[in-house]
Amino acid sequence: MSNVNIRRAVENIRANTTVYTPVVEMVVNGIQAIDELRPTNGRVSIRVLRHAQARLDARLSAVVGFEIEDNGVGFTDGHRASFDTLYTDRRISEGGKGFGRFTCLKYFEDLYVKSVYDDGTGFGSRRFRMGKGQDIIVDEELGVSEKDASGTIVSLTGLKKNQAFESKLVTIAKSLVERLLPYFIAEGYACPRVLLSESDGSDKDILSTADLSGMAYKPTKEEIEAHLQREKFSRECATKKDVSNILSETSLEAMKDDVVEIVKKISGTSKNDLIHYIAQRRAILA
Ligand SMILES: Nc1ncnc2c1ncn2[C@@H]1O[C@H](COP(=O)(O)OP(=O)(O)OP(=O)(O)O)[C@@H](O)[C@H]1O
Ligand SMILES: [Mg+2]
Repeated sequence: MSNVNIRRAVENIRANTTVYTPVVEMVVNGIQAIDELRPTNGRVSIRVLRHAQARLDARLSAVVGFEIEDNGVGFTDGHRASFDTLYTDRRISEGGKGFGRFTCLKYFEDLYVKSVYDDGTGFGSRRFRMGKGQDIIVDEELGVSEKDASGTIVSLTGLKKNQAFESKLVTIAKSLVERLLPYFIAEGYACPRVLLSESDGSDKDILSTADLSGMAYKPTKEEIEAHLQREKFSRECATKKDVSNILSETSLEAMKDDVVEIVKKISGTSKNDLIHYIAQRRAILA
């Protein structure tokens, strides 16, 4: 049981998030859940939910929600407790700020979790909704699962007024790849497959594979290079300055000399460092 003013927490989210932020946050959570379990065929499936009414002009109906499914560790008691804690530090070693889920309620009316997890004796099921009042977890239902593997489906539904996604899958794919690219290309790290499709699984696009083959939107070598450079850059900034200062143009300008120096110095990047500053960038930039 939490005692948090959820509405205030959501209102306090920095202005520079976009409608893609919560989707990226939930995909990253899925990737982390998979990294924890390490199943042989780790995958995050993103399904778009469209407005039920078909359009007369044959254009695609508007995207109003997403389902993000992973075959990771599931909502064990520990992950449940972490979800229930504001600024949870469970994922702190991976750069987690413990805040990602709150971005969901900035753009969507509801967040539902449906999860299967190994409770030590068998598979349990857990469902709940993210609350909007004082409790982060509401309407929780626990049961025994018939399934023989763990995993989670997070549904983001009811896109808020005045918010919109592009309707073409390929355009959404591009936006997601741009934001998730650091995970996809991190050296020495095999990212689970990330797939995007319509809600019935049709028109599947591969956003990422471990070797970057078959991707729907494949970044060019130059884009990858530019990304790597930017990440090295923001990692060093992050260690030097308060995170909230990193990306304002003026503070960058002020740090210019430092930064040139730093970029010259950096060579390798360890996975944990990389994930750490990606997470920081994510919270600020996404
Ligand atoms: N798909 C998932 N599978 C298992 N546990 C999850 C999943 N998504 C979220 N959780 C749990 O919920 C917690 C809260 O998630 P949230 O994204 O809000 O914060 P975080 O991931 O810890 O940090 P960050 O702010 O960087 O995202 C996580 O720490 C994790 O324990
Ligand atoms: Mg998270």
